Amino acid sequence: MGKADVNPVQTRVAVLISGRGSNLKALIAGQQSGGSYQIALVVSNRSQARGLTIASEAGVPTRVIDHTLFDGREPFERVIDQALNEANVELVCLGGFMRVLTPWFVKRWQDRLLNIHPSLLPAFRGLDTHARALNAGVRVHGCTVHFVRPELDNGPIVVQGVVPVIEGDTEQSLAARVLETEHRAYPEALELITSGRARLIDGRIVVEEGWAGGTIWNELAG
Ligand code: GRF
Repeated sequence: MGKADVNPVQTRVAVLISGRGSNLKALIAGQQSGGSYQIALVVSNRSQARGLTIASEAGVPTRVIDHTLFDGREPFERVIDQALNEANVELVCLGGFMRVLTPWFVKRWQDRLLNIHPSLLPAFRGLDTHARALNAGVRVHGCTVHFVRPELDNGPIVVQGVVPVIEGDTEQSLAARVLETEHRAYPEALELITSGRARLIDGRIVVEEGWAGGTIWNELAG
């Protein structure tokens, strides 16, 4: 399939999705410019997820594992885990995967499982982050790429993307500004981790000295 298959140092990454897949698209685009990772598999719990088309068009293998066919979360996750192992996946990225993972799965992929959350964690964990940011009157908002821990939207922070909140913003306009930043933050974070320029030390991410990674500023933020 080209360059990716002949470079033995690339980390094999799976992306778990449920829908649109715009972050998946950004990660696929990022693998060409970065070079330290290869998207080796996309798993969706929904057969209608638009991200599946994005993956297929890019030549990335896909699997649909429908959570409604399983009796509980762990049996569902065991099948995902098996698919990941069959594809020799070394690191997993959650990209709008709308199932809460059990501690079993999270521990199994401890320090090899990344998520992107649409807020500057630890602010606004959970859902409806943009509406809550507007209600709180924060002047900056953004996204966070972090390692996953059993507690929801928690874990060592790899990269944050910062955007200004502008007078007159609606939930939609703010979401769009944050999403643009997500598409830069996620490939940056994955590249930092898989290249070894960012390391997890004592529960915190340390970025290699002299490397300006870790923060993505939206141009409007100055
Ligand atoms: C993103 O906003 C991400 O932060 C959140 O889910 C959304 C996924 O969007 N976790 P997409 O499917 O990548 O377009």
